[in-house]
Amino acid sequence: MAKHSNIFLIGPMGAGKTTLGRQLARRLNMDFYDSDRIIEEKTGADIPLIFEKEGEAGFRKREAAVIDEFSQKPGIVLATGGGAVLNETNRRHLKSRGTVFYLSSDLESLLERTHKDKNRPLLHGKESPEVILTRLIEQRDPLYRETADHIIDTSNDSLRHVIQAIISHLDNCE
Ligand code: S3P
Repeated sequence: MAKHSNIFLIGPMGAGKTTLGRQLARRLNMDFYDSDRIIEEKTGADIPLIFEKEGEAGFRKREAAVIDEFSQKPGIVLATGGGAVLNETNRRHLKSRGTVFYLSSDLESLLERTHKDKNRPLLHGKESPEVILTRLIEQRDPLYRETADHIIDTSNDSLRHVIQAIISHLDNCE
């Protein structure tokens, strides 16, 4: 198998960016990073606390700095947070520094995978997670599409199949 340059995973909360990214990196013998975990390590606070103390704007600033820094590393798999594409500079860095996969999923799967989660402050507003996620996807889907080289549906396929689909795309591009 050919050696791959950077692989960036984008898509909504619950699409499987972290789980898939970690396994994909293992398969390809690459280093795996998750932008949310890096932000937490650098800040010394978890995501809900960062949102509470600094607001979403403070979190987005930290996110942009991490994406700029890590997208410059050679040969990594980077899972980004669901809102990373809101920032034009992030989109530009991701597009120009690697191959971008948009992991998309139907609403039901996203809700199923996020319903027990306490670490995603945007899902705990006044409205139901269903209403919130629907709105976020409507707003962000065009940005995910604009940024991605490939779109992969993760709703029903097994992890193994999705990883194989990503690897096939990568091999076809070389
Ligand atoms: C967010 C998604 C989260 C995290 C933060 C904001 C979003 O990442 O970055 O809670 O705006 O969609 P995941 O997509 O990994 O859950």
